[in-house]
Amino acid sequence: MKKLRGVLKISGDKSISHRALILSSMTSGRAVIRNLLESEDIKSTIKVLKLLGIKIFKKSNAWIVIGNGTNGFMQPNRDLNCGNSGTTARLIIGAVSSNPISCNFFGDYSLSKRSMSRVTVYLETLGATFKLHRGKYLPLKVKGSTSLIPSLIKIKKPSAQIKSALMLSGLNVNGKLSIIEKARTRDHTERLFKYLNIKFKQKNLKNGSKLIELNGPYEIRSKDIKVASDPSSAAFFIVGALITPGSKIQLNNIALNPTRIEYINVLKKMGAIISIKKTGTICGEEIGNIKAEYSQLNGIKINKSLAPLLIDEYPILSIAASRAKGKTHMYGLDELRKKESDRIKSIIINLNKVGIKATNVKDKISIHGGGRLPQKNIRIQTFGDHRIAMAFLILNIICNANLKLDNDKCISISYPNFKKDLKKLIK
Ligand code: S3P
Repeated sequence: MKKLRGVLKISGDKSISHRALILSSMTSGRAVIRNLLESEDIKSTIKVLKLLGIKIFKKSNAWIVIGNGTNGFMQPNRDLNCGNSGTTARLIIGAVSSNPISCNFFGDYSLSKRSMSRVTVYLETLGATFKLHRGKYLPLKVKGSTSLIPSLIKIKKPSAQIKSALMLSGLNVNGKLSIIEKARTRDHTERLFKYLNIKFKQKNLKNGSKLIELNGPYEIRSKDIKVASDPSSAAFFIVGALITPGSKIQLNNIALNPTRIEYINVLKKMGAIISIKKTGTICGEEIGNIKAEYSQLNGIKINKSLAPLLIDEYPILSIAASRAKGKTHMYGLDELRKKESDRIKSIIINLNKVGIKATNVKDKISIHGGGRLPQKNIRIQTFGDHRIAMAFLILNIICNANLKLDNDKCISISYPNFKKDLKKLIK
């Protein structure tokens, strides 16, 4: 039987890559970005920023961004296509809202079904003007303003995208913008702000919320950025090693940001043998090497409070749960319905097709692990969702390639080299 063995370097982190490009565009000067992820979502961000007048090009192995300042986005002469990328749309809508330009944003079929009003409601209270399709969706028109009103914004949903959109907008607000997030979400924007010497305050409040205070407008000097490797992409190979007998792998230079690797704690709780060795810090992000090997997993309960920190990992955690002994219950998955596909549906339908008992009640998924794997071909419906496609390709390692994906092109949204990298590890 096949197993996963060897050492691998994974491509750059998607969240950090978006932020490196957008923030560098808002600096004065020239930034060299290394290890930038070159996926479809990141290409969307590059294309949109170029249409906003930013010079971005590749030289040797690095990307060069010539910033135009926090107030330097130019009136685009075309509508801005965000493709499949929620992060592109939401973060750049925030960034342009404090610039004196009007622009139209649109996206693909999946992105057009995802709420943009979750970001625009807050930007509207600051004074930017929006016109959204059916009051909520793309295509949308934003009319930015250089005189946004200093405010205190309390974000209702735990979402790093909403927080980051507001922080980017705040770079050009004249005065204090205070943002409160109720629950902890990924903090790459805060880390990159710090790295770029942007003076702002952040404080954890007693009730578990976090306060961020900006005092704009800012002028930011450009700095070169190196992007750490993507822990969410690493999760696929880690689970691959855990469920495939005889496996032992090492993944190098992975971002160890605690808001991103909660899935490792969950897997360890399930019985996974995983070890982490910190090797350094790049641009405010700790990095290190992760080792994982085949392990006997047990079903567990995954608390609702962890959902914001596991949000992109539920598809691959579901694969781990499907091979664990006993039941796994995952709570508080409401937001999972609002991702690149309705991931609750995508996970349940496909696990059931493979013969694994998985059920959904309200915002909870229950998976009964173990059982016989399919002996004949099964068609997996990816729903055009990159993380669903990769999760089931990992399960396929122990299904003798019996799982046939209806479409694996979507993998290039976040990880174009996924299949190549997987091949490198398969022995
Ligand atoms: C992201 C934040 C998350 C995540 C997405 C990337 C980011 O979304 O699901 O893949 O880069 O800020 P929410 O913060 O909206 O949950």
